[in-house]
Amino acid sequence: MKKVLFAVLVLSALVLAACGGGSNAVATLAPVPADYAGKTNPLGADAAAAGAEVFKTNCESCHGPLGKGDGPAGAALDPTPKDLSVLQVSAGDDFLYWRINTGKEGTGMVAWKGTLTDEQIWQVVSFIRTLK
Ligand code: HEC
Repeated sequence: MKKVLFAVLVLSALVLAACGGGSNAVATLAPVPADYAGKTNPLGADAAAAGAEVFKTNCESCHGPLGKGDGPAGAALDPTPKDLSVLQVSAGDDFLYWRINTGKEGTGMVAWKGTLTDEQIWQVVSFIRTLK
């Protein structure tokens, strides 16, 4: 009986080890700072068309036309831009709005606050939501 119990324990430990932190685990996103946390897009899906224009002019060179991270200017960067169509599934509006406003430290992603208006940043968030 003791042997069986031991075997069950070893097995469950193995199963747990296999499930946790495997390569299939969704990468955890950085926590959104308090001044941005909880913000939601005040513009609807209608703003995506305007956002597409903002994206084309300011983001496409690195992120690629469909946000896949395959823009010509992104290829030389380390790290290269990741796929925004994948990111947007797990990222909240507050996360996207924060990153676009303040950039991503240690990468080629600059802060857009001041270059783009607040409205343009939310428009581009609406556009990112359409990426598949
Ligand atoms: C000079 C190239 C470049 C331009 C232009 C650029 N980005 Fe980025 N972007 C990057 C890189 C490099 C990263 C960091 C790698 C990553 O996480 O995708 C990044 C990261 C991001 C992230 C966060 C990803 C994460 O995991 O945190 C978002 C959102 C984003 N960019 C959106 C935009 C938007 C919207 C624009 C236009 C307003 C833009 N980027 C313009 C290169 C660029």
